[in-house]
Amino acid sequence: MISLNIEKTAGCISKEKVFAYEALAKDAQKALENGTGLGNDFLGWLHLPSSISKEHLADIKATAQTLRENCDIVIVAGIGGSYLGARAVIEALSNSFTWLQDKKTAPAIVYAGHNIGEDYLYELTEFLKDKKFGLINISKSGTTTETALAFRLLKKQCEQQRGKEMAKKVIVAITDAKKGAARITADKEGYKSFIIPDNVGGRFSVLTPVGLLPIAVAGFDIENLVTGASDMEKTCGLDVPFAENPAAIYAATRNELYKNGKKIEILVNFNPKLHYVSEWWKQLYGESEGKENKGIFPAAVDFSTDLHSMGQWIQEGERTIYETVISVEKPNHTMLVPSDEANLDGLNFLAGKRVDEVNKMAELGTQLAHVDGDVPNIRIVIPELSEYYIGQLLYFFEIACGISGYILGVNPFNQPGVEAYKKNMFALLNKPGYEEESKAIQSKL
Ligand code: PA5
Repeated sequence: MISLNIEKTAGCISKEKVFAYEALAKDAQKALENGTGLGNDFLGWLHLPSSISKEHLADIKATAQTLRENCDIVIVAGIGGSYLGARAVIEALSNSFTWLQDKKTAPAIVYAGHNIGEDYLYELTEFLKDKKFGLINISKSGTTTETALAFRLLKKQCEQQRGKEMAKKVIVAITDAKKGAARITADKEGYKSFIIPDNVGGRFSVLTPVGLLPIAVAGFDIENLVTGASDMEKTCGLDVPFAENPAAIYAATRNELYKNGKKIEILVNFNPKLHYVSEWWKQLYGESEGKENKGIFPAAVDFSTDLHSMGQWIQEGERTIYETVISVEKPNHTMLVPSDEANLDGLNFLAGKRVDEVNKMAELGTQLAHVDGDVPNIRIVIPELSEYYIGQLLYFFEIACGISGYILGVNPFNQPGVEAYKKNMFALLNKPGYEEESKAIQSKL
């Protein structure tokens, strides 16, 4: 199992103080279980891992197989919660260089609809010319501008390049059961579609088809992913005592650190494959807790890369930070440092050691240095990067986020703040229905 260690927060907060959250954490978890807390109409993720049926997984796998058989490239169009979970898992499990190889065992996954970069879209559509590509259009609301814009361009290109009949086969929609333009288009065009349950918000949707379909297309075992999440659901169950519940302890620790002036949590990895797990985590915690002028700011770094950039700030900048390190216990491959007779680089002291041993000493050395520099350190150990353990990690962070948000006293399941930019953008673009806002915003310019 994944494990959690908070020993190295002791310079800032005491274990007693963390354990004093026991009742609060239990109440928070009861509110999640009983649906009595804020945002209780968005709790569909809570028992999702243990309730996913074999038939549902089989349906997802069959659709993935159709895309795998008919496409060299699959574009996942989505933004925020409608894209980050899939990308986090796919990048954590993928060979870092497969996308450069000519012979592939699975379609390459490419992302769109998560920005409005004209150059990005131009280059993507140019690249896709003559390619056998398919498209997964993911949007719960079905109306998100970034995603809808990319989908409009790519749908047209897919139909032109592959013909209407094949396009119908290789375009899949994941959206609301009834509402939104993505649903209307899917029904009208006869695309295979999956439903995002009403009671699962975007950032908690990785274990719905939103995450599972792209992950299956990329060739990963979604059953093991769900089993991992389901085992973590048991490990963090309401009946588990506080001292044994890693999610409750993580939630309590971060709230206590926050109370003690640690306003920024930096998620750290020592494995570049985890970069997008951090991006997913940032959204999960940032959107869930950053409201009512409260909330820890979630940041992330990739070490040791960023030790050569942000390392200075972390060691000696303003002391408002703490780190949560995701440490991967065992790499999937073995690589030894070779011996070199001339030893011109002076690295023979490492000869015969595994590269990971060097990495682990970088990790330990960094932990000791940062703790000495008054940066409390939480450590999460994941045995290896596999579907099973990534599934555990995802659910661990989700349930901990629900508990933590309730302890903080916010609704972790809404995101009213993200509407402000959209309103302004629509007003500036003169979207029909925004006439009043258009007038008002013009006067501000
Ligand atoms: O977590 C969320 O709710 C958001 O990040 C959404 O996932 C994001 O805005 C995309 O929305 P939609 O799926 O409606 O296109």
